[in-house]
Amino acid sequence: MSLIEVNGVSKTFRVSRRSAGIPGMLANLINPKYEKKQAVNDITFSIEEGEMVGFIGPNGAGKSTTIKMLSGILYPDTGSVRVNGYVPYKQRKSYVGSIGVVFGQKSQLQWDLPVIDSFELLKAIYRVPEDVYQENLKRFTDMLDMSGFLNQPVRQLSLGQRMRADIVAALLHSPKIVFFDEPTIGVDVVGKETIRNFLCELNEKDGVTMLFTTHDMQDIEKTCKRLIIIDQGAKVYDGLLSGIRSAYGTTRQLDVEFSADCTVAPIEHVEIREQDAPGGRKKRFLFESKEVPIDALISSLLANYTIRDLTVSEPEIEGLIRKIYSGEVAR
Ligand SMILES: Nc1ncnc2c1ncn2[C@@H]1O[C@H](COP(=O)(O)OP(=O)(O)OP(=O)(O)O)[C@@H](O)[C@H]1O
Ligand SMILES: [Mg+2]
Repeated sequence: MSLIEVNGVSKTFRVSRRSAGIPGMLANLINPKYEKKQAVNDITFSIEEGEMVGFIGPNGAGKSTTIKMLSGILYPDTGSVRVNGYVPYKQRKSYVGSIGVVFGQKSQLQWDLPVIDSFELLKAIYRVPEDVYQENLKRFTDMLDMSGFLNQPVRQLSLGQRMRADIVAALLHSPKIVFFDEPTIGVDVVGKETIRNFLCELNEKDGVTMLFTTHDMQDIEKTCKRLIIIDQGAKVYDGLLSGIRSAYGTTRQLDVEFSADCTVAPIEHVEIREQDAPGGRKKRFLFESKEVPIDALISSLLANYTIRDLTVSEPEIEGLIRKIYSGEVAR
């Protein structure tokens, strides 16, 4: 059995459908109408102990809803969730000790209290032994460079500082599974790097299992080997990050700088784009790797022209993800 098992899970919300104007207001009061919004639609996946999995999808895809079901805040309408042997929403009290949750959009800290007081409070709530608490506190706050603002009330913190405090808050009780829902939102480049390195170390050294939601593909590329993509509540990809290229990125690009201005004769299945003036020195060749073997293309160019420089580029993961979101590539 895997550490995290999500099986055929769906979740529908009931949202009120409001009619406009004064008659509408009356109608809303007397006979409120509801419509259903399917947030998660038959999702299945499992995560093994020690994995660090990126969980991405466009706005409204159902990521936060899934994380809420995993952490026991929401219950699924159908299907089953099992994490660390628990059914999260049924056994919440005993379950929460083994998990940590960070919602980047919403702080879990006490707004008016100094950060350190919120931490003390969590220590009491989770009954964290003093020595474990002290060790975690020191280690995590050092790693995230937080000593400067531990005594400041949360409301005075910058977004990046608050985020770091929220991350530590979720980890003080040494959970073995942590769900991160956008832990880098609004954080600057340096701050993001600090958070990414911190998460990697936690995963590698402490073996903490993580699910990581973000809209920043760099976050995923720098931290996760595996990626789950959802869209409109349904899973559209589950596999290695590197597998995205072989699954969706079959277009290759070869940029060539010839020694002199020239015209290249048409080549079957290859689109030739002039990069400077038509008949100039720089050209881009676009083709499908299935149709045109790259070595054959390069050797035929080398045999017929004098070439100064040549670069082959693979499609960018970020661009491919954009295509998956926009439905440009078949799922
Ligand atoms: N409590 C709720 N009541 C009604 N509808 C909801 C509720 N929570 C979420 N939804 C709807 O469910 C869908 C999925 O929302 P969810 O917050 O899970 O998306 P998300 O993938 O986290 O998006 P984002 O990237 O914008 O955070 C959305 O259409 C949203 O409007
Ligand atoms: Mg969300």
